[in-house]
Amino acid sequence: MLFESYDLAGLPLANRLVMAPMTRNRASTDNVPTPIMAEYYAQRADVGLIITEGTSPSPDGVGYPRIPGLYNQAQVEGWKHVTKAVHDKGARIFLQIMHTGRASVSVNLPDGARVVGPMAVAMDDSVYTDAEGLQPASVPHALTEAEIAKVVDEYAHTAKLAIEAGFDGVELHGANGYLIEQFLNANINQRTDGYGGSAAARNRFALEVAKATVAAIGANRVGIRLSPYGAFNKTGPYDGVEPQYLELARELSALGLAYLHLVNHESMGAPEVPDSFIAKLRAAFGRTFIASGGLDQEQAQALLEKKAADLAAFGRPVLANPQFATRLKQDLPLNEPDFATFYTPGEKGYTDYPAALQAT
Ligand SMILES: Cc1cc2nc3c(=O)[nH]c(=O)nc-3n(C[C@H](O)[C@H](O)[C@H](O)COP(=O)(O)O)c2cc1C
Repeated sequence: MLFESYDLAGLPLANRLVMAPMTRNRASTDNVPTPIMAEYYAQRADVGLIITEGTSPSPDGVGYPRIPGLYNQAQVEGWKHVTKAVHDKGARIFLQIMHTGRASVSVNLPDGARVVGPMAVAMDDSVYTDAEGLQPASVPHALTEAEIAKVVDEYAHTAKLAIEAGFDGVELHGANGYLIEQFLNANINQRTDGYGGSAAARNRFALEVAKATVAAIGANRVGIRLSPYGAFNKTGPYDGVEPQYLELARELSALGLAYLHLVNHESMGAPEVPDSFIAKLRAAFGRTFIASGGLDQEQAQALLEKKAADLAAFGRPVLANPQFATRLKQDLPLNEPDFATFYTPGEKGYTDYPAALQAT
């Protein structure tokens, strides 16, 4: 089933393999996509759908060095090379919109930008900087309700620029402790205004972003990634997480979103996402469901066969393997990922993984 075509809200995919979004820090220091990014994605464009690395909708959201943005024209032009290279190879490509929010250090942001979040409470963790190595996360500016409306507009604006840059759609990064999940998560969001204090209020920011993005580019071009049991960036489980996410999934479904992409980071040390909850979440959303996290070919195949997912996303295996789909289909050997070069600049560990036919 993995190699069967699939209709993603009207968008034909060549197969059911998805490249999971992965931050690789190969953009320029002013957050513009570079030519090697086009080469990297093109090498992996035999999967049906590529979801790009997290890409900021705002100068306030580029909290790591050399991650791309998509809020100015230079970035649109840079991304055009990526989308063309991927389309030429036959894959579809969605831009993951990631605002780092409080998972950030001010030295990583351009002049005039600021670290923001739901609360003026720093993430109790450090963040990498090129100049000074790991640094404690900055204390964010707590967004006011009026400022939240502007951030929502930034997401919608980036979605429009994504279409201009040739993307097939966007994925809202509602997972892994970035801005949207900072609002969703009760351990982080303790606001007492309209954006916190109840499950519905914590869901509000995600839903407003989804609604504005849908209005900007159409529901069939918008997906979302969620990690209800994630632990990354100091999120973690809390009482009521399941009913909150089930309601969120129902409301996202009502907006007509193309897909829900669930992160299961059990393979990376996060708590297990119970199978019974995944099934409820899938039912609550009711349309395309992407599974991800620690999957191998056999597990992915089994999930599709028992209809626990429609598409299967792979992260590290695709990172390390140009022509990943071809390798699986033809049972060719897989390269191992090299952790040391995940986030370093340049071609090493990026575009130089051995191609399928040379693999040993
Ligand atoms: C180097 C690296 C960067 C990542 N960056 C992102 C990201 O930008 N956005 C995101 O949603 N997940 C990100 N992830 C998580 C992956 O999308 C995926 O969920 C995770 O690697 C588990 O899947 P895997 O076992 O197939 O690798 C990243 C993972 C890795 C290894």
